Amino acid sequence: MNSEQTIYQQLGESAGLLRIIQTFYGKVVQEPLLAPLFPEDLNPVIERQHQFLTQFFGGPPLYSEQHGHPMMRARHMRFPVTNERADAWLGCMNAALRDQAVEDELREFVIDRLKGPAYHFVNTSSSEGRA
Ligand code: HEM
Repeated sequence: MNSEQTIYQQLGESAGLLRIIQTFYGKVVQEPLLAPLFPEDLNPVIERQHQFLTQFFGGPPLYSEQHGHPMMRARHMRFPVTNERADAWLGCMNAALRDQAVEDELREFVIDRLKGPAYHFVNTSSSEGRA
């Protein structure tokens, strides 16, 4: 890790982050807990996630410019997000960072930063929907 650079820079800026996100969604569609929640065409999801994580990790505020205030927990309310799904989401991201050869210290830092939002988005204990 290099504390003089943003996480966005350390992950390889736009192109590096895009590769990580593409690898991540390749894993999401293989994960039975997550796959059913996502549309068949993942391209728009990949694009919005790329915009969001760009700004989340210190790059330009692409998501807010295009979509306004992120309100990410609210945007996830229409999906049943359980604790198990948050674990699975973070597991896919961890595996994607490994596949893209992100060094361990940076990978652990990134996962740590994503844990807060992931568990904050949990909105039900039932995978069928709000209980
Ligand atoms: C906790 C487990 C999570 C689950 C189950 C989950 C699931 C989903 C689903 C189903 C979508 C909608 C796909 C569509 O457009 O149809 C979505 C969108 C999105 N998610 Fe998550 N997500 C999780 C965690 C996260 C985390 C931790 C982040 C980032 C910190 C994140 C960022 C996003 C973004 C940026 C979008 C696109 C929002 C938009 O529509 O503009 N998600 N997520």
